[in-house]
Amino acid sequence: MSDLAINEYFPESSQLVYGCMGLGGGWNPNGYEAKDVKQAQEIIETCLAKGINTFDLADIYTFGKAESVVGEVLKQQPSLRNKMIIQSKVGIKLTPTHDVKSYDLSPVWIKSALEASLKRLQVEQLDVLFLHRPDPLMDLDDTAEMLTNLQKQGKFKHLAVSNMHAAQIAWIQSAIDFPIIANQIEMSLAHADFVEESITTNMKEGCNSGFPRGTLEFCEQQSVQLQAWGCLAQGMYSGNLPDNPSQAQLATEKLLKQMSNRYSSNPNAILLSWLMKHPIGIQPVIGSTNIDRIIQCTHANKVELSREDWYLLFETARGQEVP
Ligand SMILES: NC(=O)c1ccc[n+]([C@@H]2O[C@H](COP(=O)([O-])OP(=O)(O)OC[C@H]3O[C@@H](n4cnc5c(N)ncnc54)[C@H](OP(=O)(O)O)[C@@H]3O)[C@@H](O)[C@H]2O)c1
Repeated sequence: MSDLAINEYFPESSQLVYGCMGLGGGWNPNGYEAKDVKQAQEIIETCLAKGINTFDLADIYTFGKAESVVGEVLKQQPSLRNKMIIQSKVGIKLTPTHDVKSYDLSPVWIKSALEASLKRLQVEQLDVLFLHRPDPLMDLDDTAEMLTNLQKQGKFKHLAVSNMHAAQIAWIQSAIDFPIIANQIEMSLAHADFVEESITTNMKEGCNSGFPRGTLEFCEQQSVQLQAWGCLAQGMYSGNLPDNPSQAQLATEKLLKQMSNRYSSNPNAILLSWLMKHPIGIQPVIGSTNIDRIIQCTHANKVELSREDWYLLFETARGQEVP
């Protein structure tokens, strides 16, 4: 499996994406410290050295501090900018003292949130701007006009969405002349609804899948790159088991250890290789702040799971065989 990504509009983007949600010193109202900038610098340098050149942010991550520490690193080392593909998201309103958490894809909010992100990141342009979540109150024509203006002004290169299904993407696309290039959504062995929906047609279980039917196929047909958040299942199978683990979780953890030996790899890499074997070509967004774990993840490119092992992992995590 190649190190190079599958993203049609961004062929230079690495298949693994580094998720910066853990940077900036935590979800608290305190400012970031020098050690938080140092951590971001070490992680960015490790990622680049190991072939990860795409970095995922959002205006809300650690209340803006994740973007700020990445911005500080770029200020100290401006030459890093052209080695990094920087994506960030707008559309969620969240402050340390928020009364109501809400979504906002109105033109006024998109403009002010994007400009604030650029300022924190100390860059002129985002490589990819994501609309973080659908906003039920969005007026499409107004939002599309603002996105078009901001793109013309060079504030972002490409547009993408997150947590959206096929019909929502098609609807937004209908009002915008440039392509929506990616959809970021939760996908992992622990959150495998994207597989579940495809194998449970005409079954009651399928109706409960949180992944709307046709989204995968739509993204494939329209060249919308899928990115998987939560791809390590927050470590659930690789050292961070929940307090009262289920039989399926225990069995999956054990199986990942066995496969790690068999493939001369490690549980995190096997977990990611399970996602990466899907022929649609998924970019996993890894959220670990632990350098050793990040390096373990980069071994995923070297694992080519057999078809049998892919199904075995799926069935073990599912807790029952496929229908
Ligand atoms: N679009 C969206 O709505 C959305 C939502 C959530 C996240 N995201 C993006 O996706 C990225 C990843 O998401 P995520 O952080 O939820 O998922 P993740 O990559 O599955 O999990 C990362 C978290 O799990 C912990 N972890 C992983 N393996 C572990 C292990 N073996 N032992 C102990 N802890 C372990 C990490 O801790 P350590 O730091 O200690 O390794 C970290 O807190 C984020 O950074 C963000 O960029 C997007």
